[in-house]
Amino acid sequence: MKVPVIAIDGPSASGKGTVAARVASRLGFHYLDSGSLYRLVALHADLHGIDWDDEATLAQAALTLPATFCDGRVLLSGNDVDQAIRAEHIGIGASRVGALPAVRAALLQRQRDFRATPGLVTDGRDMGSVVFPDADLKIFLTASADERADRRYKQLIGKGESANLPQIRQDIIDRDRRDAARTVAPLRQEPDAFLLDTTELTIDQAVEQVLAWFADRA
Ligand code: C5P
Repeated sequence: MKVPVIAIDGPSASGKGTVAARVASRLGFHYLDSGSLYRLVALHADLHGIDWDDEATLAQAALTLPATFCDGRVLLSGNDVDQAIRAEHIGIGASRVGALPAVRAALLQRQRDFRATPGLVTDGRDMGSVVFPDADLKIFLTASADERADRRYKQLIGKGESANLPQIRQDIIDRDRRDAARTVAPLRQEPDAFLLDTTELTIDQAVEQVLAWFADRA
């Protein structure tokens, strides 16, 4: 029997990760934050002084990185790097390495291996278009750039980090542009994906909407 997949794609800081993780927990499904794989490759490059454009070296690393996922944390060689991969500059690096076709190809099977019973909820940029084109439910989750910048700003301030709202907004716009303009797996809404604009929605409302769509399709 085909293992069900819910694919949630969308721009950075849209809240798709939080929504996807909660939907997975409500359904008892596995959860894959595909961005964490791109972030791991960027962190590896950063730690080893590898250029973010060194496609062959990074593709090899993407194939072999000893990454594991445990209780919602991301581990590299057994070390918890969850916080390190969430740093802003690693996010920018992830979008640089994510533009390299060989890196994307290397990560393809690693992502597909997460599909396991009873089901998978995954979020990223190309989950519905490339990695799981036969997903049972595809969602394009977004929010206005102002709202996303505001959420990211509050998140950083909440963690006691310094943050500059206009800079965050600009970084979000630049990252969206890079993700949408690349030739391989550009960020875009698939024709068969539902649009979920969360600018005016709470996380709970977004989660309920995804669950309702899934129930309708099941
Ligand atoms: O979702 P997150 O912000 O963690 O992703 C970081 C970067 O990784 C994105 O800006 C994007 O360039 C890249 N990415 C990707 N494809 C995915 C997930 C993330 O290209 N499926």
